Amino acid sequence: MYTDKVMDHFSNPRNVGQIENPNVVVKVGDPGCGDAVLIFLKIDDNVITDVKYKVYGCGAAIATTSMASTMVEGKTLEEALEVTDEKVAEALGGLPDSKMHCSNLAATAIRAAVTRYLTPPEEGAAS
Ligand code: FES
Ligand code: FES
Repeated sequence: MYTDKVMDHFSNPRNVGQIENPNVVVKVGDPGCGDAVLIFLKIDDNVITDVKYKVYGCGAAIATTSMASTMVEGKTLEEALEVTDEKVAEALGGLPDSKMHCSNLAATAIRAAVTRYLTPPEEGAAS
């Protein structure tokens, strides 16, 4: 049911872990299945120089987050914002229908982190 690429990223996920002094960290969850991703980005001069994550979820959530992380590593913020769920699923050679939302979780987490970084904190908000 899974492609070799999915199995590869599931068994050997890339970029797992956390970053000590990230420029941004966000947690994104899927209320449907309860899976969640905590993603850390290190950004230097508009480029994602490091990406790490912790993922709580199914094999497809792990594989898609791993693949998404490799798709934004070394990329500009604009390029990272263009990583969609379809592109992540495609890069993995496809996902079963019931697991398509897992790629959405990964892509959403990346975009949420970049968007958070680009959005200045509201006035009066703590840090
Ligand atoms: Fe979400 Fe797979 S863990 S159903
Ligand atoms: Fe929900 Fe994988 S089953 S993210």
